[in-house]
Amino acid sequence: MKHVWIKGSNNRTLVMLHGTGGNEYDLIDIAKMIDPNANILSIRGNVLESGMPRFFKRIAPGVFDLDSLVDETKNLYHFLKQSEELYNIKRENMIVIGYSNGANIAGSILLHEDHPFNSAVLLRPMVPLKKNEINDLSGVHIYIIASKLDPIVKKEESEELDKMLRLRGAHSTMTWVESGHQLTMKDIELMKAWYESKVKRDI
Ligand code: MLT
Repeated sequence: MKHVWIKGSNNRTLVMLHGTGGNEYDLIDIAKMIDPNANILSIRGNVLESGMPRFFKRIAPGVFDLDSLVDETKNLYHFLKQSEELYNIKRENMIVIGYSNGANIAGSILLHEDHPFNSAVLLRPMVPLKKNEINDLSGVHIYIIASKLDPIVKKEESEELDKMLRLRGAHSTMTWVESGHQLTMKDIELMKAWYESKVKRDI
């Protein structure tokens, strides 16, 4: 997959997944604000919708093409595994930070794979798909930042995702912000505080 790799000086890797119409450069500054010394692996989605990069196809806003979602979930997870060898890093030290469409594919990996990475921040996520099989996320830290004023994501969706992740054993925490779908400095402050208290204690 197209990506940017920035070598850091500690053993943590921030995996950055952009929103619809974004690219692999969008979230690099945010990654540097969260942990200036971590490795950064910032990835571009494989799919194009009217020229806008995405991580999987959709049929309409909020209506996902589930075949594409499942295929691209596998592709992204395979790429994360490949990158362990490529860059001499470990998935158990990866913190995935996804925004919007990027949060939705990160959520999909979390609903498919056992312990796919150390932890994840999901910014304005939806429930990517319903899944009855319960995989094992014990020990995985997840931080969901949602907005009650989000015109794209219903409040109940973020809450349901949080429940689905807890059911799989993840330590999932949720926080509400007052902004809409857009990220603000508040998101960065919250992420950084969570990262300092949960991730830095762990890796
Ligand atoms: C999605 O398609 O993943 C969600 O609707 C969020 C978005 O990208 O607008």
